[in-house]
Amino acid sequence: MSDAAVKYEADEARDEAYSIPLAEINVADPSLFRDYKMWPYFERLRAEAPVHYSQGNEDTGPYWSVTRYNDIMSVDTNHQVFSSEGGITLRDQDEDFKLPMFIAMDPPKHDDQRKVVSPIVAPGNLAKLEGTIRERAGKILDELPTGEPVDWVDRVSIELTTQMLATLFDFPFEERRKLTRWSDVATATEESGIIESEEQRRAELLECAEYFMGLWNERVNAREPGNDLISMLAHGESTRNMDKMEYLGNLILLIVGGNDTTRNSISGGLYALNKFPDQYKKLLANPGIIPNMVPEIIRWQTPLAYMRRTALQDAEVGGQTIRKGEKVAMWYVSGNRDESVIQNPNELVIDRERPRQHLSFGFGIHRCVGNRLAEMQLRIIWEEILKRWDQPIRVLSEPQRVHSSFVKGYEKMMVELPKRK
Ligand code: HEM
Repeated sequence: MSDAAVKYEADEARDEAYSIPLAEINVADPSLFRDYKMWPYFERLRAEAPVHYSQGNEDTGPYWSVTRYNDIMSVDTNHQVFSSEGGITLRDQDEDFKLPMFIAMDPPKHDDQRKVVSPIVAPGNLAKLEGTIRERAGKILDELPTGEPVDWVDRVSIELTTQMLATLFDFPFEERRKLTRWSDVATATEESGIIESEEQRRAELLECAEYFMGLWNERVNAREPGNDLISMLAHGESTRNMDKMEYLGNLILLIVGGNDTTRNSISGGLYALNKFPDQYKKLLANPGIIPNMVPEIIRWQTPLAYMRRTALQDAEVGGQTIRKGEKVAMWYVSGNRDESVIQNPNELVIDRERPRQHLSFGFGIHRCVGNRLAEMQLRIIWEEILKRWDQPIRVLSEPQRVHSSFVKGYEKMMVELPKRK
């Protein structure tokens, strides 16, 4: 293990993680992620209790944690037993504000709705998007000041992914930051600091629904159906009769799916390269590594820490019996650091063999629809960065992290850019 990796691993949380009784471990506690203290807890669970029962807290209720790579894979690919209908986060949706979305549905409805939006990421469409993304990425990078502190999250990661999302929805471009706000609000809790109350959250999401309703009405009546996500939903056989909440639910899915995740991979990549400077050197010497580096960054970052399932019947996983009705968290963030499957998993190794061997996009029928689009955005931003800078972009201090055990990401990360080439 490199010095950098050792330093990274030397976490003061280790003693605590190993001294508390196993039964008291609650890895869904969002402060562990905000304070970046979760690693030793997962390491301990993988070794001592790979399928672990926790009482959780008042938000989550009791749940099982599946923490090893192969066990996660077996749950994720068994949708007949492990259902998505109960929701994908440990916190249940409120009965009086339910947002149906196809990621939280089982077949056949899931399959029908997924088919409606899949053409957006068909290879032909991705090829058409490439030029737009490259041009926008270049412009974002050209406008950054050099030699002074800049918030990379806001100026680059959010900006690029939000512009992309506006394109996918054919959303009014100047109003695109509304999408960033709705994405943040959708996954916010009262403790996150993003919203002050649940009432505020609902009000903002309903505003989002109203706004998109206007776009729907515009598109549904268009003579030629457009090639954007709203037109696809408005004309799709299994989606055109959705009620307002189901429309909102699916919008939120596409907004969060297309935004937070890629955003946090853009920030996470730069952070990781700063943690592993030898890798940054390797990259600068050989930009041809980028296509290999991108999936490695997505593994290392794991932008969605887990997905939840609910057992439809009693089932055995890793020697434990999960009872019908119980919640199960598949901790991708832990499976991606499973040393029995991935060599030196805590390290970023940009020329790693088989870099796509990771769980960040899930597996089975819900495997991420946008995976190739996300990879393309990351590839382009790094290609454009390397065209402009032949010295490392320096992360100035530890980033501020999101207070969530679901979205694993960054609020703010100050960097300094060297002079351009
Ligand atoms: C599903 C991760 C980018 C749209 C998922 C799932 C994960 C994930 C973990 C659930 C998999 C499962 O349950 O087995 C990521 C990561 C991304 C990313 C890490 C970026 C690095 C995107 C983008 C889009 C997107 C750019 C938008 C176009 C979706 C949708 C689903 C999904 C619609 C639901 C699929 C289904 O239920 O069938 N994603 N995602 N994602 N993602 Fe992504």
